[in-house]
Amino acid sequence: MLLNRQVGQMEVDQTSQHRSATLLMCPPDHFDVTYQINPWMDLDGWHDERDLWRKRAMAEWTALKETYERLGHTVLTIAPAHGQPDMVFMANCAAVMNGKALLAHFRHPERQGEEPFYRHYFADLHARGIVKDIAHLPDDMVFEGNGDAVWDPYRQMFWVGYSQRTSAAAAAHVGRVLGVEATTLEMVSERYYHLDVALAPLSGGEVVYLPEAFDAKGLANIERRVAPDKRILASADDAADFAINLVNLGQDIVLSGGTSELQDALRAAGYRLHIVPTPAFQMAGGSIYCLTQQLDWKSARQRRAGAVYGRFGRFG
Ligand code: ARG
Repeated sequence: MLLNRQVGQMEVDQTSQHRSATLLMCPPDHFDVTYQINPWMDLDGWHDERDLWRKRAMAEWTALKETYERLGHTVLTIAPAHGQPDMVFMANCAAVMNGKALLAHFRHPERQGEEPFYRHYFADLHARGIVKDIAHLPDDMVFEGNGDAVWDPYRQMFWVGYSQRTSAAAAAHVGRVLGVEATTLEMVSERYYHLDVALAPLSGGEVVYLPEAFDAKGLANIERRVAPDKRILASADDAADFAINLVNLGQDIVLSGGTSELQDALRAAGYRLHIVPTPAFQMAGGSIYCLTQQLDWKSARQRRAGAVYGRFGRFG
């Protein structure tokens, strides 16, 4: 399958394949299920065996971090904060593109307490030169970071989900603030409350998605941009297993599980699968992608500019 790709597409593959990503994770020391802000959050199931689930969460998180490291990526960690049980879901803290971070402002008061920790941490990343610029949206807009802003490296654009968590007004700003193309998709079901639980663009141009998470307009938008041979349709079982909530780095895909149909389709498209089950985090409605913030997404245009400047010694 990889051989069938056209030359331009291969370029994208190769750059992402050999690149070591910089990922941010938050250890689950204070991970807990203490409120319910999405339909997957299982307060009763969690509390019946809370100690066991908390131990499992630590083991699952460690396995994920070790998987990234084994694949050659760098994992930074932010200190977990007491009383912020969902802070493990790092995808939500911001969206970072070409070194510019657009920080989140959460819809639910339950998660707004995480925001000062992210402001502080990103100021530190800025001081260390890991991010170059920090942006915020106006206070009346809500935006939940990479949970709703999902980068498509093949199409060089963000898919931005809105209505459940990110507001339509915020979604309309993401591309402009981050300086890249973006298109918006309305999230029509409470169950699929962030875009990242229902859509995953892959480095070779395939897009995995769950049709029932979108309305006719959203589906038409997806179908306009994704050729039929690049569409990988996921099922409600895949979504319930949070398998669409995957992280794709070059040819590697890290995912929680999913049906054999989905796994076969991903392998047939040329990807190597690394399965890291996440049942404890799924009790809070999150999985692999939610647990991971990618700090170094770069547009191809920026990468080319970097290469040219690099040769002339203007960058670092
Ligand atoms: N309990 C969290 C919430 O409802 C889960 C977040 C999962 N993150 C994600 N990017 N989907 O906000």
